Amino acid sequence: MKISIVGTGYVGLVTGTCFADTGVNVTCVDIDEKKINNLKKGIVPIYEPGLETMIKNNVEKGRLHFSTSLKESLDQAEVIFIAVGTPPGEDGSADLSYVLAVASEIGRHMTQSIVVVTKSTVPIGTSKKVRAAVKAELDKRNADIPFYVASNPEFLKEGNAIDDFLKPDRIVVGTDSEDAEKVIRRLYKPFLLNNHPILFMDIPSAELTKYAANSMLATKISFMNDIANLCELVGADVNMVRKGIGSDSRIGNKFIYPGIGYGGSCFPKDVKAIIRTANSYNYPLRLLEAVENVNEDQKKIMAAKVKNYFNNDIKGKTIALWGLSFKPNTDDMREAPSKVIIKELVEAGAKIKAYDPVAMDEAKKEVEDSITYGQDPYDVLIDADALLLLTEWPEFRIPNYKVMSKLMNHKVVFDGRNIYDMNEMNENGFDYFGIGRSQ
Ligand code: UGA
Repeated sequence: MKISIVGTGYVGLVTGTCFADTGVNVTCVDIDEKKINNLKKGIVPIYEPGLETMIKNNVEKGRLHFSTSLKESLDQAEVIFIAVGTPPGEDGSADLSYVLAVASEIGRHMTQSIVVVTKSTVPIGTSKKVRAAVKAELDKRNADIPFYVASNPEFLKEGNAIDDFLKPDRIVVGTDSEDAEKVIRRLYKPFLLNNHPILFMDIPSAELTKYAANSMLATKISFMNDIANLCELVGADVNMVRKGIGSDSRIGNKFIYPGIGYGGSCFPKDVKAIIRTANSYNYPLRLLEAVENVNEDQKKIMAAKVKNYFNNDIKGKTIALWGLSFKPNTDDMREAPSKVIIKELVEAGAKIKAYDPVAMDEAKKEVEDSITYGQDPYDVLIDADALLLLTEWPEFRIPNYKVMSKLMNHKVVFDGRNIYDMNEMNENGFDYFGIGRSQ
């Protein structure tokens, strides 16, 4: 089987590589020549554990190819995935111009029947536009070639993308025909072992499923952040409450960890997008509006705690940060809560020294020039008046209290992810503030 994937971002690359791994002949296409040349040399543009090795392996086996020519990739391809970006436009809505440009190009160059699958996260109704764009080009050249359209949203988590792809909880596919269903079922067969289900449905349902899933997860997080803040007021420990509710299988124990607010390229964007879609039907999604508001406030909570601790005067104080990326195992800084925290602290006159195992290069492009970066976690603690744990990278989990005590000017830790044991911190002489844990 031969397929092609357009867009070598995180979704396109992971999808293409994982399909190639099952023996499918995959061509990954991108207009960015530099990116394609680098990929041919084995240089991967994103940090995703395991991906580089897997790409190399499949390139060597001759089943994963990189190209700048969509036209050539169409030759004998049975399926083409559109996995290009949909950046927010000026008004915040997803810019579909890349997706539709690819659809038009497919229509211009296809010579045999093909299934056109949208994998990018797109607003509900986009598949219709994709179909129209392909059809318009076919009509222009009087070509009567049948084609099918499908929507196949992805549910990968950054940092765990390969595992998520290889062992999916479910695969969701919206199609317009049985023929398309047959081809896609064959393609995904290797991933359906161990009862991982593939769910076929109509196209609008598949498109909405993606937004509903991310919004539901964002809702769980904002709910727990709200409960955590209440815990602090009533003298409860959110870790206990979390375990107490999470053991009810109707609630479940995943995605109920409070923290400093959700970030990344998906939840913030997708919650906004579904609210916008609903508004266009005059149906305000009041619950999700609240989810968003709670999240915005939660990103400011750490800075407020630090200011409060220092009696609202942090001018000239040195604050050390451990972690910058929106979550561990990625260098992604998009919508990272760390950016809001840094802004608040810098505005209040604090000096910031930050360390992140992989995201510092990305951070340098996006945050205040005034902050400085360290070589390792302890480097940033020299003369620090406080330490803020912002991303729960494994290397921060077992801190060396002796070294910390020696280096820090003032012994206080603000733990934005609740990874530390409060008693242990106190026993080692540190003031400790978590999220939703009363002192
Ligand atoms: C999310 C979804 O989990 C994926 O299923 C989906 O495919 C993806 O979006 C997407 O639409 O492409 P991702 O953004 O990579 O994946 O990251 P998550 O692991 O979901 O974390 C998102 C944010 O929520 C992070 O800032 C994380 O720290 C926060 N979070 C997560 C919490 O604060 N508490 C939790 O219990 C879980």
